[in-house]
Amino acid sequence: MGETILIKNDFFQKDVLSLSQFDTDSLNLLFQKTDVVKAMSLEERAKLLEHKLITLLFSEPSTRTFGSFAAAVKLLGGQTLELTSPSENSFAKGETLEDTVRVLENYSDALIIRHPEVGSAKRAAEMINIPVINAGDGPGEHPTQALLDLYTIYQSAKQLDGLTGVIVGDLKNGRTVHSLLKGLSLYTGNTLYLLAPEELQLKVGEYKDSGLTLKVITDENEIPEYADFWYWTRVQKERFENKNDYEAIKNKFVLTEKLLNEKGNEKLILLHPLPRVGEVSTEVDKDPRAAYLKKQIKNGLYVRMALLALVNGQTK
Ligand code: NCD
Repeated sequence: MGETILIKNDFFQKDVLSLSQFDTDSLNLLFQKTDVVKAMSLEERAKLLEHKLITLLFSEPSTRTFGSFAAAVKLLGGQTLELTSPSENSFAKGETLEDTVRVLENYSDALIIRHPEVGSAKRAAEMINIPVINAGDGPGEHPTQALLDLYTIYQSAKQLDGLTGVIVGDLKNGRTVHSLLKGLSLYTGNTLYLLAPEELQLKVGEYKDSGLTLKVITDENEIPEYADFWYWTRVQKERFENKNDYEAIKNKFVLTEKLLNEKGNEKLILLHPLPRVGEVSTEVDKDPRAAYLKKQIKNGLYVRMALLALVNGQTK
């Protein structure tokens, strides 16, 4: 596999590498499956991946993506093979990604991969015939994060068309943002306000045919008061060559209670892919609109369960 194959309402044995494989019907199918999995008893769920072994090959740090995928496989009755420390596997001896995944293919029903290079998941998928799920390819994409983000926004706004969102932080390097924008571009009438330090602003030109209305802003005062969601992100320290450059801009925009009082509205939902490292003040956590650490995380588990079930053969 490995070519960018469209999902087209059929996830069975497909790679999930990018949000550009999706259309709105396929997202609907995934969200319906998520609701089904959520409503299942523990016993029913535990049959969905019975006798399957899913390999997690993670060569960058991860808490949520790794944790939720591993939990999802286990709760669905499957088993995991977990390679999470590149310094302790054969990458440290100089083995190529291509050889590593060809070996792992022999043991596994699917491969979930996180790797620091853009395009790494696609490269892996080109080498092997089991489904490959991209769990983050450097500053490229993070499709499953976007799937759970879209599901969470949908739960709150009851639609994915005609939304106004505010996206803040490292829009240049933030792979979750790249995937989320591709997802939102599948719908009509979405407007995104993009607030980032100048050096970390999105390459807006790359989205000129996306159908999205993108508004670059440079100050918190320009946040509209009628937004449906705020999507805050951290500055991606690991993508900086010079750590002083990182220190200089890391917390330029901080989500505080004061800002929320000034610019928030009742229907707003506050999202963050996490980890946060100072850019969302902990005083905001208790606000009922804060979905990070709560609903967004739980949804991550359910959406990943649904995705794994569909990729591994559950059709509905
Ligand atoms: C994100 C990632 O790894 O891209 N985390 C996650 O998977 N939820 C966001 C980040 O690291 O900033």
